[in-house]
Amino acid sequence: MKLKRIGIVGCGAIGSKIAEAISSDLKDKAKLSALYDIDSAKARDLAGKLRKKNIIVLSLARLIRRSDLVVEASSAGAAADIAREALRNRRDCLIMSVGGLLGAEDIFDLAREKNCSVYVPSGAIAGIDALKAHKLANIKRVILITRKSPQALSGAPYVIQKKIDLDNIKEETMIFEGSAQKAVTFFPQNINVAALLSLAGIGKEKTRVKIFCSPGYSKNIHEIEIESSAGKTFIRCENSPCPDNPKTSYLAVLSAIAVLKDIFNPIKIGT
Ligand SMILES: NC(=O)c1ccc[n+]([C@@H]2O[C@H](COP(=O)([O-])OP(=O)(O)OC[C@H]3O[C@@H](n4cnc5c(N)ncnc54)[C@H](O)[C@@H]3O)[C@@H](O)[C@H]2O)c1
Repeated sequence: MKLKRIGIVGCGAIGSKIAEAISSDLKDKAKLSALYDIDSAKARDLAGKLRKKNIIVLSLARLIRRSDLVVEASSAGAAADIAREALRNRRDCLIMSVGGLLGAEDIFDLAREKNCSVYVPSGAIAGIDALKAHKLANIKRVILITRKSPQALSGAPYVIQKKIDLDNIKEETMIFEGSAQKAVTFFPQNINVAALLSLAGIGKEKTRVKIFCSPGYSKNIHEIEIESSAGKTFIRCENSPCPDNPKTSYLAVLSAIAVLKDIFNPIKIGT
């Protein structure tokens, strides 16, 4: 059987773990064909760890040429362009920086036109299966309540613009309330889950988001409420942060690996 060639854009916390999984769990089905990072040292370090120095490439175009499936694990600002480039070249893609897809829905038309797949993992949350089912029954509301530590929120554009002194937050404090669209703009590296809920559910304006911060949180917590004529669903995820990047939940990494495994599995369990 011909191995599927998978290239990874972004060799940080998520990209590295996906690369390891492709080289171990998936080695009978897939081959890690290329690594690209704007910080070339990151690609070099990862290739060194995997003992595969010859898979480093210095441009997205080269990565695409070498891959059947492009995994994006870089940044919200780059995700849409990476997806477009992959699809124009008739490559499937898996997108982790889901925030970058909001407002770039032309990508889904391009995927249909080119007959390619865009995989968007559930990432740091559960319940996308229920949300897709609720969508068939007139959704009244979707609310995301995210709870994160000051460390996980540091550097977010909203925190900087509003001059929020995260070190001075001593107890649970709501620092943001608004639409998913605004949440994604102001917390691009934190709130991919809001974008994912918008895409799977009722869109970026109607999906509501609240963000709480407390030094007492050691986990990234996401609570989701969905209501439709089919009833109410409540979901709570208490995610351990990734050791390499506290802004990223370990579950998000595993979710991407699970999607890759599913691509090769003829048995599809869950929605
Ligand atoms: N879908 C989800 O639930 C979910 C969860 C967590 C993180 N994420 C997103 O996944 C992405 C990766 O997360 P991470 O924790 O691995 O981040 P990270 O900061 O550890 O790694 C990102 C890597 O991408 C590289 N990079 C940035 N822009 C690039 C570009 N234009 N081209 C090539 N490389 C580029 C960086 O140099 C870095 O090495 C982030 O955008 C993050 O917001 C999604």
